[in-house]
Amino acid sequence: MNDTSGSAMAMRRPPQIPPAGKLTSLSSVFRRVKAEIRSRIEGARLQRRVEQGFRLVPERELEICYEHVIRRLQAEAGGEPLGDYLEFGVCHGASMACMHRVAGALGLRDIRYVGFDSFAGLPPEADEPEEGPWRRGYYRSTRGFTEQFLTDAGIDWKRTTLIEGWFDDTLTEETRQRHHLRKAGVIMIDCDLYSSARRALDFCAPLIVERAVILFDDWHAANLAARGLGEKRAFDEFLAANPDFAAERLAGYTKNAEVFLVRRSAGSR
Ligand SMILES: C[S@@+](CC[C@H](N)C(=O)[O-])C[C@H]1O[C@@H](n2cnc3c(N)ncnc32)[C@H](O)[C@@H]1O
Repeated sequence: MNDTSGSAMAMRRPPQIPPAGKLTSLSSVFRRVKAEIRSRIEGARLQRRVEQGFRLVPERELEICYEHVIRRLQAEAGGEPLGDYLEFGVCHGASMACMHRVAGALGLRDIRYVGFDSFAGLPPEADEPEEGPWRRGYYRSTRGFTEQFLTDAGIDWKRTTLIEGWFDDTLTEETRQRHHLRKAGVIMIDCDLYSSARRALDFCAPLIVERAVILFDDWHAANLAARGLGEKRAFDEFLAANPDFAAERLAGYTKNAEVFLVRRSAGSR
């Protein structure tokens, strides 16, 4: 006699296949967890290499470039304060420390240093094929590691602020107000991605009062600029959206970097 009671039916029922939508969301959770684990392992490995002297930027070349940039801004500013140093993509702090060393050696003790980073590595947008060779979670540091690195580099914390979080959340009018950001002098774009660079440039637009120098660390990385992508795309769009700015190309500091002096036309101030 067939047993048709509920419990026996349940025992004989074939395993339930989750609906397609559920499978997709499960696999995307799995991908995110995998990326997070990889990011933490790679981040810790990178921090150990930094402790042993490795840097994500070529310090000597960058310092020479910063010196030229400062002298050029001084020549144009005619004694006016140069403005703040804003950095988008602080990671361990090497490029910020370079600027601090150079400005200090030139006797500039009034520049403020404001650095933005998730300290969780690159955002999910990094996984978009058009964003280049990077992936979400690359270049993870921790705020504590970076603060120690900058302290060891002799940073003046009275003039330095690190703003932690995704640019989507931190690059806001409220941040400009809260930190009394009024004028940028030197802007370092070292956040690799088109999307991050675009957000950083939009945030800086009202802070370029007369002029500022913008350094792009990864302009030519992975042939992105030649394909109209990456930081070049972000800068082209930024200039198109702000027709009162004119850009003059300056000497870079690596084969991947580009540096521009951006001036606001007198009539639009
Ligand atoms: C190549 S690393 C910067 C290297 C750094 N300048 C140095 O000298 O060590 C790029 C950094 O950009 C940050 N970044 C990129 N896009 C971001 C975003 N949308 N929000 C927050 N941080 C971002 C990453 O967290 C990463 O630390």
